[in-house]
Amino acid sequence: KQTELPAAHDASTLDALRAEVDECRNCPLWADATQAVFGEGPADARVMFVGEQPGDKEDIQGRPFVGPAGALFDRAAQEAGLERDKVYVTNAVKHFKFEPRGKFRLHKTPGPTEIAACRPWLEREMATLRPRLVVAMGATAARAVMGRVVKIGETRGSILQRDGEPDVLVTVHPSYLLRLPDEDRKRAEFSRFVEDLRLAAPFAK
Ligand code: URA
Repeated sequence: KQTELPAAHDASTLDALRAEVDECRNCPLWADATQAVFGEGPADARVMFVGEQPGDKEDIQGRPFVGPAGALFDRAAQEAGLERDKVYVTNAVKHFKFEPRGKFRLHKTPGPTEIAACRPWLEREMATLRPRLVVAMGATAARAVMGRVVKIGETRGSILQRDGEPDVLVTVHPSYLLRLPDEDRKRAEFSRFVEDLRLAAPFAK
């Protein structure tokens, strides 16, 4: 039973997990990354946000969602009535996957093998945090959280209840919004993202 897990809401367990993740060699991504990027937020947070993987800025700073996607996430979360420092934010894959291109490092989407290799960390992170709601942002996060391929368009916008597991809300990844070329579309999709996040707000209270 969930409530009998001794590790629940335990900051020191999260710290120990963070140290373990930094030594992870479950897949080759560690070799080129600066460091592992573990989740961040209060150990008693009721809502856990899951992204894809650290980007360039996150890899350097060792913190999740501190780059452009993070700024957009912060803005959307605030508009939806969520405070960033009251929620827990993490990623499905803990090391940055990229392709060197001159002096830049271009993001590469993690594949099924990397998602699977990293999934035990996410599971332990969830088991320790015991959130009421997990918000999976994008296909990688949704796959890692649900353990199967999930179609975002069909699944987003409603709370999925699961037996003995935290509820799940699937939505788009903030980077998707950043990549949209059309400003009107961007505004419309941002509003939709905020609407999705509004469903998470009551869980954080
Ligand atoms: N995108 C993610 O999925 N996670 C981050 O931490 C940053 C960008």
